[in-house]
Amino acid sequence: MTVIAPRRLELRDLKACAALFAQVFSTEPWSEPWGVDGALARLEHFHASPGFVGMLSLGDKGEVMGFVLGNLEPYLDCHLFYLREMCVASQRQGQGIGSQLYRALERELAERDVRAVYLATGRDIPAAGFYQGLGFRCSETMAFYAKGLKGD
Ligand SMILES: CC(C)(COP(=O)(O)OP(=O)(O)OC[C@H]1O[C@@H](n2cnc3c(N)ncnc32)[C@H](O)[C@@H]1OP(=O)(O)O)[C@@H](O)C(=O)NCCC(=O)NCCS
Repeated sequence: MTVIAPRRLELRDLKACAALFAQVFSTEPWSEPWGVDGALARLEHFHASPGFVGMLSLGDKGEVMGFVLGNLEPYLDCHLFYLREMCVASQRQGQGIGSQLYRALERELAERDVRAVYLATGRDIPAAGFYQGLGFRCSETMAFYAKGLKGD
């Protein structure tokens, strides 16, 4: 099966992306209890937020193979891009689709005066190696803090 070059992710793509997201993040190593409706709500939120940029990879039958999305944020005299979600269909992982998507995203961002891309992900999950291979480094000076509420 061929994979078509990534294109911009649009509103009409969100349902198919949500189905993929729910499938990928319901399985290991994430094993989170996502349903399509919950996934769609999350993706719609990012799409509706200022500075949205997303890229999509389709197979030759129009099926979603993977996507990456996030939002631009003003920072001093430029922008940062907060990469919020990225996934590739489980059976298509490890075939270069994720790298192709990320490179397409960087080309989009190059037109928008973006100083840096940042993201949060698990330290010990396989995707960490993927991001490091793309040039991401775990910050030595910044820390990601979270506080669970409601007993989480
Ligand atoms: C992480 C993810 C987006 C990577 O996309 P992909 O299409 O599988 O990655 P690629 O095939 O482009 O791999 C690119 C490089 O990363 C490496 N890589 C990819 N997945 C990896 C993994 N699970 N463990 C270690 N290295 C990995 C590949 O070995 C490859 O290295 P190489 O160029 O030296 O051969 C995809 O595997 C995925 O959707 N995973 C599940 C969801 C997830 O974890 N998303 C990110 C959470 S923030």
